Amino acid sequence: MRLAYALLLCVALRGQTADHACAACHSTIVQAYAKTPMALSSGKVLSPAHQAQPAFVDNLTGTHFSVKRLGPKLLLEFSKPDQFSGTRALEWFIGSGRVGRSYLFRLDAKFFQSPLSFYSAPGRWQLSPGFDKAPRLDLTRAVEPACLQCHASNITATSMDAGVSCERCHGPGAEHIKLMSTQTRRALTSNGIVNPRKLPAEERDGVCAQCHLTGAARVARYRADGATYSPGKKLADFSAAFVWDAPASSAPLGVTSHFEKLSASSCKLPQGESLTCTTCHNPHAAASSATYNQRCQSCHVSKPCLTAPAGDCVSCHMPKGAARGVDHSSYTDHSIPRRPRPAGPAALERLRAFWPGEPSARDFGLAYAIVNRIESAKRLLSESLNASDVAAMAQLAQVHDREGREAEARPLYEAVLRLDPRNASAATNLAVIRIKAGDAVGAIELWRAALAVNPALTGARMNLAMALYAQGDRPAAMIEIQAALRYDPDQPSAARLLKQLQQK
Ligand code: HEC
Ligand code: HEC
Ligand code: HEC
Ligand code: HEC
Ligand code: HEC
Ligand code: HEC
Ligand code: HEC
Repeated sequence: MRLAYALLLCVALRGQTADHACAACHSTIVQAYAKTPMALSSGKVLSPAHQAQPAFVDNLTGTHFSVKRLGPKLLLEFSKPDQFSGTRALEWFIGSGRVGRSYLFRLDAKFFQSPLSFYSAPGRWQLSPGFDKAPRLDLTRAVEPACLQCHASNITATSMDAGVSCERCHGPGAEHIKLMSTQTRRALTSNGIVNPRKLPAEERDGVCAQCHLTGAARVARYRADGATYSPGKKLADFSAAFVWDAPASSAPLGVTSHFEKLSASSCKLPQGESLTCTTCHNPHAAASSATYNQRCQSCHVSKPCLTAPAGDCVSCHMPKGAARGVDHSSYTDHSIPRRPRPAGPAALERLRAFWPGEPSARDFGLAYAIVNRIESAKRLLSESLNASDVAAMAQLAQVHDREGREAEARPLYEAVLRLDPRNASAATNLAVIRIKAGDAVGAIELWRAALAVNPALTGARMNLAMALYAQGDRPAAMIEIQAALRYDPDQPSAARLLKQLQQK
């Protein structure tokens, strides 16, 4: 029960990263890094590397699709015979293509996730992860800010850079460049840049964990000062990660489970802090399997392998498997097992914090809401209520709302909207409470506010249309239904309703 992301990005797309600022002095690293999947992890759709696909029918939703190349552009065409047809220009990709790529399109300057992704192993377009359960064609998913936080850089309300930039791991570089460009740098006590290697272990690991640790739930911590994470700081001060309270070695592989898995490996337990991601990975360049095996052997000298002391260590001890929920994927088991281990149960009852230090009841409460353990969420969030904590109040309001306690939900939604007027999910939910209480004017105002933030909220748009019609404003109602169908064409009931109103 994730809170719906209300934020929609309206951004300038920059095709290149900001890394060229570092190239003047670190050209070898810049050139090597530019070829890595991290550097290529998102960007503008420009190159012919993005493949087209002739017409095909998706059996689940019954939609006819094709993906066409139009010069440097990529065009998604969709239709259902006798119902609707349309196109969307895919402008931004997410994913380097090792496993596959997801795409974003823009409608009225807002970004949405493409229902189709390109999967590299079969070499074809299919429904995107998360869209493959929906019975209808869904074109209304606003891009989650989290996708871009992990796959792009320098994200502001109006722009973003392609891929993971140097600064995502090294922090802001402007001060460093200024210092290094002056003549007197020998006398400096600080070079103005973060080198993760020189950080204490927790801060060092946080640099990679900001994108490589999701756990069962990850929660942005409440911070009165509104500060955000940057390399060198303690990640746990900004986000709390929770894992199921069970041996991580038996948890299923996930796209971002490398930290959990490594923490459970027999190498990590005795080795402690000195074994980390960069023991095996060079963050600036891809490694060969020979390099990985050499890393294993650098530790396993005195007690070598019983079975194949000179073999390909990784092929036996770091087996690959598909990640849960992602078709055609292949990820490496970082728990480094003696023998390949079958995955245990996916979900249990109790969560525990991944990092040392006890997170607050509030953080646990939000995490339990994410994993759908509603009783625990309700108890912890009620206990720890803080009248300036938007995320916690919005989540608790939803818990009350879903269980029918509108009297409890209402003041919480109102408090959320006072602090965060652009919170579209609080607005749409409060609108429903208002209309039930007979306050049509108040409800209409909230639906309009929510749609100004995210115009693709079909449910809100249809409710608004109904309320306008009930007030006797048939033309306004029809305009809203037409708008709903423009964003969300696969809505047979909206299409029917529109026909009925047109006949009246
Ligand atoms: C004008 C030249 C110049 C530019 C531009 C420059 N650097 Fe450096 N950088 C240096 C020099 C010289 C050193 C070595 C400094 C030292 O040893 O204290 C260095 C060291 C570093 C280090 C290691 C620091 C340490 O304490 O070990 C990192 C990391 C780094 N640079 C990252 C960057 C990044 C990222 C950029 C782009 C945002 C960048 N540099 C741009 C000159 C430059
Ligand atoms: C917590 C950080 C994080 C978030 C949030 C996230 N990703 Fe990823 N994603 C990753 C990492 C790390 C990988 C690489 C996994 C690997 O290679 O093991 C990845 C891999 C991918 C890939 C496959 C790339 C390849 O290797 O070919 C795609 C596509 C992708 N993500 C799309 C998305 C989309 C779309 C979203 C938002 C709905 C998203 N990701 C959210 C971190 C994240
Ligand atoms: C994914 C994270 C990440 C990214 C992105 C990244 N670095 Fe690094 N960088 C590191 C880590 C970690 C180290 C320390 C390596 C170690 O432990 O030996 C490092 C070390 C360095 C150093 C110190 C010298 C060295 O080779 O150890 C320089 C200089 C540097 N990086 C420059 C850059 C530049 C320039 C970019 C962008 C082109 C960049 N880095 C991108 C993680 C990153
Ligand atoms: C800003 C987010 C971010 C940070 C910080 C980050 N990564 Fe990544 N990393 C990603 C994403 C996204 C991918 C997937 C790239 C893709 O295939 O699209 C990835 C992929 C990788 C891969 C797989 C590359 C391959 O060959 O498939 C390795 C290894 C990796 N990261 C190591 C690290 C290490 C080590 C650090 C810390 C020094 C780190 N990453 C920090 C986002 C990040
Ligand atoms: C930083 C040192 C270090 C590195 C690097 C390392 N290991 Fe280990 N590993 C250990 C330690 C310490 C143990 C505990 C057992 C021991 O003392 O030999 C261990 C245990 C193991 C075990 C026994 C697991 C069990 O359940 O009994 C295997 C298998 C193993 N490592 C394989 C590897 C492989 C394969 C690699 C490379 C991908 C690797 N290790 C890299 C330090 C390391
Ligand atoms: C003991 C060595 C070792 C350590 C430590 C290690 N990795 Fe890996 N990692 C590997 C190997 C081997 C692969 C597979 C590489 C390949 O297939 O080319 C891999 C692959 C990956 C990939 C690519 C996707 C996948 O699952 O195959 C990512 C992302 C990654 N590692 C991230 C991390 C992060 C983050 C850390 C730190 C928490 C880490 N690794 C620590 C050895 C290691
Ligand atoms: C052909 C598959 C295979 C390859 C290749 C392989 N191993 Fe193993 N390894 C095994 C198996 C199976 C065991 C467990 C034997 C047992 O339980 O009796 C094992 C056991 C181990 C152990 C535990 C030793 C102990 O005393 O408990 C370590 C450490 C280890 N391997 C490291 C490595 C390293 C390092 C490499 C690369 C040089 C490597 N392995 C290559 C299959 C392999």
